[in-house]
Formats: sequence, structure tokens, C-alpha cells
Amino acid sequence: MNAYVGTATSRVDGRAKVTGAAKYAGEFSANGLVHGFVVEASIPRGRIVRIDTDEALKVAGVLDVLTHANRPPLADKDDAWKDEVAPEGSPFRPLYDDRIKFNGQPIALVLAEEWETAKFAATLVRIDYEQDEFVTDLEAERGSANEMDKPHKPRGDAKAALAATGLRHEADYLLPTEHHNPMELFATTTVWDDGRLTVYDKTQGVQNVQKYLCSVFGKKPDEIRVLSPYVGGAFGSGLRPQYQVVLATMASLALKRSVRVVLTRQQMYGLGYRPMTIERVALGAGPDGTLDAITHEAIAMTSRYEDFSRNDTGWAEQLYKSPNTYFSHKLVDLDVATPCDMRAPGAATGVCALECAMDELAVALKLDPLELRLKCYSDRDQSEDLPYTSKQLRECYARGAEAFGWSRRDPTPRSMRDGKELVGWGMATGVWEALQMPVAVRIVLTANGHAEVSCAASDIGTGTYTIVAQVAADALGLPIENISVRLADSTLPQAPVEGGSWMAASSAHAVLAAAEDIRQELARLAKAMPDSPLADIDTHNVTLANGMIASNGKNAAAVSIADVMRHSNLERIEKEKLNEFAEDKSHARNTHSAVFAEVTVDEELGVIRVTRVVSAVAAGRILNTKTGRSQIMGSVVWGIGMALHEETQMDHRFGRIMNANIAEYHIPVNADIHDINVIFVDEPDERINKLGIKGLGEIGIVGVPAAIANAVYHATGKRIRRFPITLDKLLE
Ligand code: MOS
Repeated sequence: MNAYVGTATSRVDGRAKVTGAAKYAGEFSANGLVHGFVVEASIPRGRIVRIDTDEALKVAGVLDVLTHANRPPLADKDDAWKDEVAPEGSPFRPLYDDRIKFNGQPIALVLAEEWETAKFAATLVRIDYEQDEFVTDLEAERGSANEMDKPHKPRGDAKAALAATGLRHEADYLLPTEHHNPMELFATTTVWDDGRLTVYDKTQGVQNVQKYLCSVFGKKPDEIRVLSPYVGGAFGSGLRPQYQVVLATMASLALKRSVRVVLTRQQMYGLGYRPMTIERVALGAGPDGTLDAITHEAIAMTSRYEDFSRNDTGWAEQLYKSPNTYFSHKLVDLDVATPCDMRAPGAATGVCALECAMDELAVALKLDPLELRLKCYSDRDQSEDLPYTSKQLRECYARGAEAFGWSRRDPTPRSMRDGKELVGWGMATGVWEALQMPVAVRIVLTANGHAEVSCAASDIGTGTYTIVAQVAADALGLPIENISVRLADSTLPQAPVEGGSWMAASSAHAVLAAAEDIRQELARLAKAMPDSPLADIDTHNVTLANGMIASNGKNAAAVSIADVMRHSNLERIEKEKLNEFAEDKSHARNTHSAVFAEVTVDEELGVIRVTRVVSAVAAGRILNTKTGRSQIMGSVVWGIGMALHEETQMDHRFGRIMNANIAEYHIPVNADIHDINVIFVDEPDERINKLGIKGLGEIGIVGVPAAIANAVYHATGKRIRRFPITLDKLLE
């Protein structure tokens, strides 16, 4: 065991990806493939009075234009449109009726023999609307916010404690709307085969999409198969079935042909996004820097047709000791598309507000920001008063500070310089959940010493193919080259959507469980062989290594797996196993990080550069130090985007997004990224699961924007509480 787990194994799908052999949803083809192009609404609220498709239909090569008026039947019961995951609710239904719910809503699908034809003909579709009053501005509407269920109960009396406290800091932090921009566009290709559909979709969960399509179109499970062998980034945008998969399926059923629908980058701004939040944090502290009270109240936007909310406010319960707390989360209904999960939903924003507030409190107390955090450090999750399965956050602070050189920081703002640029050092804490879900895996071991491991889970670019191969190779005692992994096909063994940072722990343990069944089967067969050297073994106490099955302990003996299978007349051994995790309500499960950032600020131009980031992460055992490091680095890059670049801008007069493209929606580019140092803090955790795995998908972004904002304050003495921190705000 452990030849591969914990090492820097290169991606098993790396070659396929860099050579272009890896195919994505929009790259599959079929005979007579039809191309669809989406027509979007240009008003935010109202109804369609008339759609004139005559001109579009006259274009040579156009096959049809689907609208709510002529589309094939869709389920009319609300229940049929329910999506149970991420977020639970009822995703937007394309071409369902004449109602317009948001600007950019798909209202027609032009179908043609060529994509260019469909795209051109889409410009000829004429729509008459009846427009209703609409609102899209969260800040203007914040007074109409409705309280959501409180996820975190108050403790003590926070309001009274704040009033009585020695020193208090209270402020609003504004985190803007951010849109998903995975490299791969949202796309679906359906392959029509005499009434059966194979659907290649960009999704984080093929079985979820398959169930949804069957429900929406009234199909039997064997009539629709969904695959997403490769996904070019998703980060939460592909948790839900997105509307293009419904449109492509609808078109296939209407035309009885194969269909491809690829959204444009602009159209992807009509999908889900990280919702704007206004976060009010109040902290009360004694002169020694211990907290008397924490309140965290968030107001977030949602659509008029669904309530979407995430845990923005409860994270203080995990991090900082305080006898009095109060949390609230309010929603404002706007005439916009429903928000969705985006990497570390709730925490990326909520912890940003909390960690900026902690920095402001440290300044007010004249305490080092790191020292303040250590004074308030909580060893327990105060929300449920639980200990952690493991929590090496102190070690993250220590290792991160050491690597960064934090002890050399002059606390006075504007005191550090590099030539004519100001230099600032800031830090923040990160926290996320360590979840695990039931996953089933099938392993087929063949007599030639090869194993195929299969599971419906997606690999959204995170490295699932690779870690599954690593764990299987170790558990079966085979070289990793002898393992092939099949993922992301709805006909394979059960898996949830890949999200929430739960797939590494979940899939790894499912592989272990199936491999255990293989091992026992081999042991039973080996024991029964004529003149077996393993005749006396305990079948539960064997190891597979180097193509052999060996008994453990004294008088160890071994036989080759090939011999065992030959003697048993077996070409293959196949085992499928669903792994569930025992429920443990006695411990909190979380990952943690300490982020240290250095910025330089050119005062004349307002230009901010993030010259160094050290991220020290405690996330249990790291399955693959190479893909794991890449996960954290990617997250840090996105955190830089949150701090300095990303913001969806809406023209509230039209309820329309103004910068729906990656020229004007700013994201960090290569020139914005300098030194990123990822440190994995050793965190043995025997309680959480057998391998001690916690997951890395989201923890890396949490804390990064606050660390940068705090560094900007330290450099300039200016506290910017409206993200992103752009140069105009610094120059003001
Ligand atoms: Mo992640 S936001 O759960 O894909």
C-alpha cells in the first residue's frame, strides 16, 4: 500500500488533454448533426406577445425555430422540474411559457444544418413584448429583504454585549455579483439513435442530468444516457442541469436528429452566478483582544422565482471564540436569473467580510492581526459546541507566517516601500467544510493483471481520474499504468455531482471498498487452490502487492494473482460496491487555511500588484501533492480576481448586464500572477475517514480576497470595503 497515494503523481489524463484527444461536450459529432443557436430576451420582466420567425425560417439551411409556442411537450407539473442538488430547487425552464423572468433568458432556439446559419438566422427572429415593472438593484432594494431560516442559532445576547463592550468595530462590506467563466463553454451534443438519446453534456453530475431529462421529457431511464468524460472547469456552474441540455434534448426530440447547442461566452451570463451580498459585521472586544460579541448579517440577491442562499454568516462560529453571537441572512427578490454555487459559495464572500472586519479590529486594538486571531482561536465549533475531527489551523498560521516572513512586518500603514511603490502585508483565515457522500465503484480485475475502475462521478478538471487510479493501484498492488479509469457516464455505478469538495474523499473510499471485495474474493480462491501455500490464511488479513496476494504477519506466504485466477478458471473478477460513511454527529469536519499576501501599490496610478501569496492549508491527508497544489494555486488566482478584478455590472435602467464578456468582465491574467507558495500542513485525521482525506476544491479561495484587501490597507492606509478594489477606489 501507498506507492501512489500521497505522491505527486502526474495526471493520468494529462496526455489526452494536451494532445486534444480528450473530447468535451461540444466536440462530439454525429451523422447529420443539427446546430442550435439561442435567442435571448432583451427585457428583464414581462411576457412575449408575439414571436415572428418567418424571416429566420426563410434562410436556406434553417430547419426550425423552437419557441414556447411550438416546442415538444415538457412536463407541466412543478415536481417534475425539481433538482435535488446544488442548489435544491427548480432550475429555470427554457421555452416553458411566455413569461420573461430575466434579461438574457433563452426564448427561442434556431436550428440549422450549420452553426453559422443558425447564428445568422437568430438575428432575424422578431419579438414583441409586454414589459412589466422590474427591479435589479440590490442596494436600492435592500429595505425589502426577507429573512431566511437562520442556519446558526444566536448565543448569549450579542446586541447588549456590543453596546457594553470596550471597543467595537462595525461596517458593511459589499461583495459584487461574479459570473462563472470556466474555459469550456456550456455545451450539449445529443446523438439520436432511433428514439434513444446519448447526451454529451458539460455537467458536474451525469446521473443528476439524466434523471432530470427523463423527468422533464417523460422518458424511461434507458432512453437517455448522459456522459461528460471531460469538463473544462465548472466550479459550481455545472452542478445544476443547465438550460442548454434541455434545449438540445428538446430539439433532438422535435427533429428526430442529433443536435449540438453551444452557448456563447455572452450567453453564459444568463446562467447562475455568485450573488451580490451586503455583509454587515460587528465585533466587540476587550482591550486584551478577546471577543465579547460577533454579529454577522448578510443581505443577498436572489431571483423572483427561486430562493438561493448559502451560509455566508456562520463561519465566525468555527473560527473565533465569542460568548455572544447573532447571525442573519436576508434575501431580496430581483428580476434576474437565480444565482448558483460558485467555488466556496457563502464562505468566499462571508469569510471575506469577517476577515476584513477582524483586520480592522486588530488595527483599532493596536494588535498584530495574526496575534488577534490566535487570542480568539476556537478549538471547538461553537455553533453545535463540537470538537473537530482535526484542526491544524494554528500550524497553518505558524507555517504560513514563517514562510512569508510575517514577523518582519512593520504594523504602521504606509511604512513599507519598494522604490516609489508602497508595500503592504495582509493576512486572513480560510475555512471550509470536509464533506463526504455515498459513491459506488466497480472494479474489474482481469487475469492479465489489469484493472478497470468505473464510476459515474465527473472529473471537472480537479484530478478525479488520477486520484481514483492512485488509490486503486495501491489497493490492488498494481502499477498505475495497469489501471484504467472510466468516469462520467450515467450508466456507471452511482455517484453524486462532483462538488462541495467531497469527491476526493468519497470516490477514494468507494475504490477502497470495492478493492476490499476483490481482495477477499482472491483470498478465498487462493485458499481453495490445490496445495495452496495460503491454505491456512485469514482471508481478511491479506495484502495485494506486485501482482501477488500475500498473507500478513508471521509465516507470510504469497501466490501470484494470475495463478490464482488461472487455477480458478477465471478471466475476470468483478465487484461493485456502494460506500457510505458512518454518520458522526459528535465532531465538526472542516478544512482550514492561513493566507498571507503582499501587494505593491503605485500611488500615482493606483495600480495594485499581488507580488506574493503564501497559502498554508490543513486539509487532512493530501492524496496527490501535485494536483492538490494546482487546486490551491488556481483558487488563489481566483481569490486575486475576487479582490481586484471580478464584478458583473448591471445597467439597472434596463436590468441588463453591461460586461457580459471576458474582455470587460475582468479576470486575472498571467501578468497579474506572481509568486504563489502553497504549503500543505500535515494533518493526520483518523476520525474523519479511513484515509484521513478532507478535500481541496474550495478551501484555497477562502481568505485570499481578505488577505489582499488587508494588505492594500496596510500599504495605503485606505480601507476599501466595496469589492473589487479597483484603482478608481484607491485614487478617490
Ligand atoms: Mo463547487 S461550488 O461545489 O462545484
